[in-house]
Amino acid sequence: MEEPRFAAAGALIDEDVTETSLRPHHLTEYIGQTTVKDNLAILLEAAKRRGEAADHVLLYGPPGLGKTTLANIVARELGVDIRPTSGPAIERPGDLAALLTGLDERSVLFIDEIHRLSHAVEEILYPAMEDLAIDVMIGRGPSARSLRLTLKPFTVIGATTRAGRISAPLRDRFGAVYRLEYYAEAELAEIVRRSAGILGVAIEPDAVVAIARRGRGTPRIVNRLLRRVRDHAEVLGDGRITPDQAEAAMIAMDIDDQGLDTTDRRLLAAIVQKFASGPVGAAAIAAVIGEEPDTIEDVYEPYLLQLGFLDRTPQGRVATERAREHLARLGYDVPPPRRVERIDPGLWDGVTAEGRTATEAAP
Ligand SMILES: Nc1ncnc2c1ncn2[C@@H]1O[C@H](COP(=O)(O)OP(=O)(O)O)[C@@H](O)[C@H]1O
Ligand SMILES: [Mg+2]
Repeated sequence: MEEPRFAAAGALIDEDVTETSLRPHHLTEYIGQTTVKDNLAILLEAAKRRGEAADHVLLYGPPGLGKTTLANIVARELGVDIRPTSGPAIERPGDLAALLTGLDERSVLFIDEIHRLSHAVEEILYPAMEDLAIDVMIGRGPSARSLRLTLKPFTVIGATTRAGRISAPLRDRFGAVYRLEYYAEAELAEIVRRSAGILGVAIEPDAVVAIARRGRGTPRIVNRLLRRVRDHAEVLGDGRITPDQAEAAMIAMDIDDQGLDTTDRRLLAAIVQKFASGPVGAAAIAAVIGEEPDTIEDVYEPYLLQLGFLDRTPQGRVATERAREHLARLGYDVPPPRRVERIDPGLWDGVTAEGRTATEAAP
């Protein structure tokens, strides 16, 4: 087993209960993501006025940014039921047909990890989303025939960490596509204060900032950090969260001042030390640090890219100078990068074509 990851945004089973209790229930309680909220509010209001099912909505963005929360809010604001499921859970076309025919009028079908739907299931979903119809096969062999079933109006809310993995025809069936962004520090601070209030824990303003700063732009992570810091404050102090306690808890969890945990740093260190800062493919990094390439791309990379610690190039991932400085400051061995940084064209004045090729080819 891997050591538990504090900073990865995937939900852990043991936090299901608090995660539910900390979840905002209304759009007005949902902090940040202003553009998405504004657009969604109009979409919902229009649907309500017409008394129709809302248009299908696709939400995408890294884990822990509030996709599931938003889907639940939409259903609540519309005053309809939500039926949650996920791409991998719908194994056969028949499973989807059963789900769809069981939906109440105007209710929401929430499909998490929608990029993992099988092709056969997607084929059923297209006409369902577009024409409120599904074609089911009855019988076998020569006597088999297809029967068209009509569905009540409904709304699909799809969520994915990777919009690029969704087939174009499926994406086209969504009337609204919203991308969730990493949260600003001030927004995370607001989330920490709100969560502390719900958990009934006293926290000093500087401690709020200390947590928000290390939250990797992600509500799920600040909530998780808050709970661990609260444990610290309860066991080692009088329960009130002071800045010192917040800092001490972060050190104990091995989370650095950029919010990176052990695995993030192992990933960066692998690129810097084993691949001369890159470029290197995700599969090679995955092999070195013992994680799945998909996990690297979905969970670790997005925030490192956002921080400016990683660059994606056609040749692979590159650790930036910022990442190298960060590691050096933490005492890591940082060998020089292999790649040649952008070269000032003036440098080549008077150099023959031959000489130039030879220099560029050098490692
Ligand atoms: N905008 C927000 N305001 C306040 N809390 C939020 C917000 N977005 C997410 N959260 C918190 O973060 C947790 C994770 O959000 P979730 O919707 O499960 O993320 P995702 O589905 O994108 O992985 C939720 O339990 C909720 O408490
Ligand atoms: Mg989710």
